[in-house]
Amino acid sequence: MLTRRDFLGTSLASLGAASLLAPRDLLALRPVAPRKILILGGTGFVGPYDVRRALERGHQVTIFNRGRSAPGMFGKDVEELAGDRAGDLSILKGRRWDVVIDESASLASAPEWVKNAAGVLRDQVDQYLFISTRSVYQDLSRVPMTKDAPVLTLENSPVAAGTPLPYGHAKAYAEKEALAAMPGRVTIVRPGLIVGPEDDTDRFTYWPVRIARGGDVLVPGDGSDHVQVIDVRDLANFCIRLAEDRTYGIFNGVGPQGGQPFRAVVEQIHRAVGGTGTYTWVDADFLRANGANPYGRELPMFQVMRGRTAGFARFDITPELAAGLTVRPMGETARDTLAWFRTLPAERQAAIKTGFTPERERELLAKWRAR
Ligand SMILES: NC(=O)c1ccc[n+]([C@@H]2O[C@H](COP(=O)([O-])OP(=O)(O)OC[C@H]3O[C@@H](n4cnc5c(N)ncnc54)[C@H](OP(=O)(O)O)[C@@H]3O)[C@@H](O)[C@H]2O)c1
Repeated sequence: MLTRRDFLGTSLASLGAASLLAPRDLLALRPVAPRKILILGGTGFVGPYDVRRALERGHQVTIFNRGRSAPGMFGKDVEELAGDRAGDLSILKGRRWDVVIDESASLASAPEWVKNAAGVLRDQVDQYLFISTRSVYQDLSRVPMTKDAPVLTLENSPVAAGTPLPYGHAKAYAEKEALAAMPGRVTIVRPGLIVGPEDDTDRFTYWPVRIARGGDVLVPGDGSDHVQVIDVRDLANFCIRLAEDRTYGIFNGVGPQGGQPFRAVVEQIHRAVGGTGTYTWVDADFLRANGANPYGRELPMFQVMRGRTAGFARFDITPELAAGLTVRPMGETARDTLAWFRTLPAERQAAIKTGFTPERERELLAKWRAR
């Protein structure tokens, strides 16, 4: 445990250097009481960032998964426990951790997985940190959005009998299971689009890749629609901070405050990747009428800030910032994501999973100009 004297000592020793550092770097100077952290998952996209951040902060990490995706990923630094959330949690029994971070419950079975895991871990952990999603909100029309907006239920958004719970419903009910099993000891983080290096979905990556290519770039809307995403590294930093501070409650995982207009996002990416292109803003309704839907495969990350999605990327993140969320500049995320993408095999780069193909982009631009 860290004493008050240790804390003051660390703080004073850091003071000289601190004045030269950015607020985000100041966090690295926070003294930390080492925690025993169990991560359910840990070897996909987000989990490894949690693991690395926890190790960097001096915590002891155990991961629990089936050992299929990436066995031995962290070598001897991390304890690996093998089991299956669909049935076999026995290896977790009789152990003790300060906090469990649940990354891996995202399928229709999420409520059951959380119920079972929390049932086993209830008396073995102090804190259950559940990674949920912005998709739990039933009403995204509010401006600003906060965690108090209603979430999906089978009553407010019925699901046809016999069909599996959709993603948003599954996460919303999984949150309820955690809260019921460990009242007062649950932390819920609801991230928006999680982006950055190693994101295999390309939902953000398309933009730095496209902007770096230059030429005549189609950009959606009029530039005023907001974007609020989260860099995977900021999300991991936030989750580990919530564990260190034992902060309970519900938080959104998006940034920056209030979102930022698509035009500002494009400008930052342009500067960060050394863009040389020109930009043509194409009306969102025109794009929709031509088969390119907001948040669809061809228009990743873009959402229209009106009607049912007016608040989609306009969250007030005052409580999250107070709890320790830091948001790095979009340019940094873009530069690092592009650098990572360029390390991938040429065939993978050529097969980018989202955005317009060059032909489709040219065709839409020509049609827009000829209208
Ligand atoms: N990506 C986004 O934009 C976004 C946005 C909002 C929220 N989220 C949420 O963020 C979370 C992060 O997902 P991630 O995939 O990156 O997490 P992750 O923890 O890095 O990877 C998923 C882990 O689950 C394990 N796993 C899969 N099936 C399992 C089973 N039956 N039993 C035990 N372990 C199992 C996998 O290992 P094995 O295969 O070896 O078992 C892997 O370690 C998810 O909860 C997602 O809903 C994502």
